[in-house]
Amino acid sequence: MEISEKLSRNEFLKNMGLKGAALVAVYCAGEALTACSNQGVAPSGPVDFTIDLAASANAALTKVGGYLIQNTTVVAQVSQGVYVAVTQICSHEGQRQVVYQNGEFYCNAHGARFSTAGKGLNSNGSHGLTVYTAQLSGTSLHVFS
Ligand code: FES
Repeated sequence: MEISEKLSRNEFLKNMGLKGAALVAVYCAGEALTACSNQGVAPSGPVDFTIDLAASANAALTKVGGYLIQNTTVVAQVSQGVYVAVTQICSHEGQRQVVYQNGEFYCNAHGARFSTAGKGLNSNGSHGLTVYTAQLSGTSLHVFS
């Protein structure tokens, strides 16, 4: 797309009353994602909650490789007794589709991959993933940012 065409489109969208995130979203859709950046993805706010590992509702966390999602956070047992918590919101395009599988965090939207340290493992994951503290005390797992 030519710059002049972009500018006129910008004016057009502005005239429609779109600005900020909505404008970015329109651009992203129109640019086949090549011009999209995740720099504007806002953090989901402070995270601070506790998971009772003894509760049956949280049984997924009692085995290595198991995970659950709570408060927009993916919490996984990555190795025996070691828990990692990351935001569920992907840094690629801000979709809430991050899960834990095959020893890494993965976004179902476009396949971004992240290590358990939050490091990007492919181009869509290149901006990394926010990792929270997950502190185990007895059967109580405290997750906080
Ligand atoms: S939003 Fe695109 S890979 Fe997650």
